[in-house]
Amino acid sequence: MSDDVIVDGLAYPVVIADDASVTLARLLAVDCTSAVVVFDRRVEPRARAITAALTSAGVDVRGFVDVSGGESLKRARTVAGLYDAWLASGADRKTFVVAIGGGTVTDVVGYAAATYLRGVPWAAVPTTVLGMADASIGGKTGIDLPQGKNLVGAFWQPKAVVADLASLATLPARERSTGLAEAVKCAIIGDPPLLDAVDRLAVRAGPQAWKDVIVSAARVKVAVVAEDPRESGRRAVLNLGHTVGHAIELASDYRVTHGEAVSVGLRAAGLIARTQGWWPESDHARVLSVLHRAGLPLHVDGVMPGSVMKGMSRDKKSVDGRIRFVLPLAIGDVRHGIEVSPPVARAAIEACLAPPPASEWRT
Ligand SMILES: NC(=O)c1ccc[n+]([C@@H]2O[C@H](COP(=O)([O-])OP(=O)(O)OC[C@H]3O[C@@H](n4cnc5c(N)ncnc54)[C@H](O)[C@@H]3O)[C@@H](O)[C@H]2O)c1
Ligand SMILES: [Zn+2]
Repeated sequence: MSDDVIVDGLAYPVVIADDASVTLARLLAVDCTSAVVVFDRRVEPRARAITAALTSAGVDVRGFVDVSGGESLKRARTVAGLYDAWLASGADRKTFVVAIGGGTVTDVVGYAAATYLRGVPWAAVPTTVLGMADASIGGKTGIDLPQGKNLVGAFWQPKAVVADLASLATLPARERSTGLAEAVKCAIIGDPPLLDAVDRLAVRAGPQAWKDVIVSAARVKVAVVAEDPRESGRRAVLNLGHTVGHAIELASDYRVTHGEAVSVGLRAAGLIARTQGWWPESDHARVLSVLHRAGLPLHVDGVMPGSVMKGMSRDKKSVDGRIRFVLPLAIGDVRHGIEVSPPVARAAIEACLAPPPASEWRT
């Protein structure tokens, strides 16, 4: 479609499409003769439209499997269920797996695709802001263990990522806000004007209004991933706000969404950066006010600082039990691999259990 935006930089196309059905069918029809579709049941009408377009393009759609999106989907039992369904539908090594849904669906389905018959081709059709701006891009797939998030996974690059903006029409406000936390993160990593664009966006606006923010955030993600596909260095910057964020998600038993936890995690990273003498007070205040306007929390209730600390030391990115942070220097500039002493981390976490005082952000 002419209104599609293609984000260049990776070996596969990343497209932000108004209607993924047209685009996906066109992109896949070249090498794909058969497919199995796995979709979040909340987007069933979109999944039906996409499947119909694949069929019209000559793809033999052998399976149409619904799942229920959400963090609890990312477990081994789901993967085993997908293997069963795919075997039953006769999916072979050339069959494409098409994952339609949010980040939980693309993570777990991508992981099942990475391991089924030692790896089959797959395509991601993200239907949440978070999925479009972040989770579906970069080939990281995986599931959680009871001990922590994303502890099992594989790098498995999709053949295409086609964001379906049309599906955003049904996305609840809380999920829209959660995606904006990643957009704010991307702005801090490397796109200051994106912060203004997030600030101008009304959370309840229609799908088209989201396009520019999603495209800009996806560009930051693609640029970082292109530089460091297997996360040996620079890709760690994408973890800004996530060291504390992941630990909050776990400590809250996933009551707090990923983006909400990242929002609080961005505040914590800012507070830690300030103790290093980095990160101007005005940048910190600006980020907090954009997060707040985006409907995101700046603090978390009902978790113990000790359990957040424990979650961080178990984070798979900690090395020899030492916690390394990504910290902001200024909006558009971050540094990764910064070791932070436990008392400094704990003080930031404790601060994030209460709303920011006026002195922290109402400048
Ligand atoms: N692989 C990566 O690089 C990467 C990066 C960032 C995040 N992630 C992962 O992404 C996950 C979070 O993704 P998410 O926020 O998309 O969560 P999600 O998949 O749970 O979707 C959020 C909710 O929205 C529903 N939903 C999805 N699309 C909808 C639509 N269009 N209309 C109505 N409802 C819809 C889902 O059923 C779910 O209830 C986390 O597990 C996180 O670890 C992965
Ligand atoms: Zn994230």
